[in-house]
Amino acid sequence: MIGVFDSGLGGLTILKAFLTKLPQYAYVYLGDNARTPYGNKSQAVIYAYTRQAVEFLFARGCVLVILACNTASAKALRRIQQELLPERYPDRRVLGVVIPLAEAGVDASRYGRIGVIGTRATIESGVYEQELAKLRPDLKVFGQACPLLVPLVEEDWVGKPETNMILKKYLYRIKRKKIDTLILGCTHYPFLQKDIERIMGKNCRVLNGPETVSDKLIDYLSRHPEIEQRLGRNRIVNLFTTDDADRFRLLGQKFLRHNIPEVERAVFEN
Ligand code: DGL
Repeated sequence: MIGVFDSGLGGLTILKAFLTKLPQYAYVYLGDNARTPYGNKSQAVIYAYTRQAVEFLFARGCVLVILACNTASAKALRRIQQELLPERYPDRRVLGVVIPLAEAGVDASRYGRIGVIGTRATIESGVYEQELAKLRPDLKVFGQACPLLVPLVEEDWVGKPETNMILKKYLYRIKRKKIDTLILGCTHYPFLQKDIERIMGKNCRVLNGPETVSDKLIDYLSRHPEIEQRLGRNRIVNLFTTDDADRFRLLGQKFLRHNIPEVERAVFEN
């Protein structure tokens, strides 16, 4: 099984892309709605919550877990890969969304000027700058935290004048840097993609998580048959939330504009 973890509902966009491009596998989704948002929390807390989520997904049989949440990918993934996996789960894998987006950013950029928008925790971590510099050291990278965007998307304020005004205020700061590529480094921003593209203009490519990460997952699985062969192929999707299951289902359906199956409540031991 492939586990997909997010701090809440946003990662459903990644799950939806996986189900479209890789429908043959079995998936388990976990949204930590009881403790969302992660975007303004400290590294220690984000790590503790993410680790608990990963262990929950491993206990349900996931061989591979994708951290759909940019904040968890930025603040917890490295430690999970360097400490938790070698010590306790050497035959499982956890991947994030930052490296796939950074790789796609390098491929897309014509003049080497890349912007990244995300939560405060993601931008302050500097993880995109680090990963982009590893791939192409001469890149100029400009980060912008956009902490108001997650609640606006969750309130379904996409397209409202107030939201566009706030978007413009955030985006003008990096637009001035004449970036040619913009990475949407947060699960919620694909919902604002059209407005972001309009504000950034046609000389800037806008890269979103679901499309990029699902393409990179196809590539990863083709290069790692030892993992791919252990994934279930019964096309079952199990959804879990740490908060109220009915509320997750209703909000998730509204969020995705798509029917979603039954949701179960995940209860962590401590
Ligand atoms: N899932 C988070 C991310 O992609 C956004 C929501 C949150 O702050 O928890 O960064």
